[in-house]
Amino acid sequence: MSGGGTAAGELVWVPAAAVIAREAGARLREFYAQGVETEYKGDVDLVTVADRTVEKLIHTRMSEAFPEHGIFGEEGTRERLDAEFRWYVDPLDGTTNFAHGFPQFCVSLGLEQRPAGTKPDEDGTLVAGVIYDPMRDELYAAERGRGATLNGRPMHVSRAKDLGEALLATGFPSRKRHASPNVHFYQEFTLRSHGVRRAGSAALDLAYVACGRLDAFWEFNLNPWDTAAGILLVEEAGGRVTDYAGQHYRLASDEILASNGPIHGELMGLFADMFAGRDLAPIPTPREFAERRAKTGTRNIGT
Ligand code: IPD
Ligand code: CA
Ligand code: CA
Repeated sequence: MSGGGTAAGELVWVPAAAVIAREAGARLREFYAQGVETEYKGDVDLVTVADRTVEKLIHTRMSEAFPEHGIFGEEGTRERLDAEFRWYVDPLDGTTNFAHGFPQFCVSLGLEQRPAGTKPDEDGTLVAGVIYDPMRDELYAAERGRGATLNGRPMHVSRAKDLGEALLATGFPSRKRHASPNVHFYQEFTLRSHGVRRAGSAALDLAYVACGRLDAFWEFNLNPWDTAAGILLVEEAGGRVTDYAGQHYRLASDEILASNGPIHGELMGLFADMFAGRDLAPIPTPREFAERRAKTGTRNIGT
């Protein structure tokens, strides 16, 4: 189960990982139905008994299915980190949604191959990814070089050619919120596209780029357990993943830009302009807005 040597077209890691993701997702559904207490890891970074229990379950199942593989989990699992293969595990991506009863969350399992000699701060190669949305019973999967699937059917990124016809997504940090400039990017991208969604699960955002429901996604300061599986899904579905400047995306990168490919250049151009202070569309401050409204006597923004 832990290495290559299979017939052409046969998937090596996805079948067992998919079984684990489905079992983990079923457990999340049970917790979701019964309701859980919320604890704070910091600021508005939430955690629940579901995050911890499901990470333990995944740890157990992965150790059975892939006894030689390492595991790096959001809730603290650190196992065999010198192994050639390492799973990045997010047992519950979208905890805030989950805790509020907002049905947008998933299990994310991404596999990195780290050949002997890979330095601790070097990336290996992402070779498999599975994301499971238990509320919609949607399983996204990919292995490098073998394409990507949604519930077993091939999936592809969208064909949008321009930002003006694109639907985008982003997310905002749950720690050091005051230091984030992302609301400026949110505004600019909103003005130039069909809209920007903030649905609260970065892994599902990436899966949605991969299957063409979204044309692009960006976010600051994600972690490898949020992104590892989704990056491979996007790439195997024909899309592109870099940092905002178009550099190769590393798991430790603090910016991710994933797109269908054709609109990547336009997105990067806007990031470059904005970081240089160019092209900012002025937004009325609440005070300017209130003054104008008082003068014109109308409550309608459009008039
Ligand atoms: C979070 C979600 C969210 C993103 C946050 C992540 P969690 O993961 O992916 O969409 O905006 O940055 O931390 O904490 O729910 O696993
Ligand atoms: Ca996460
Ligand atoms: Ca999580």
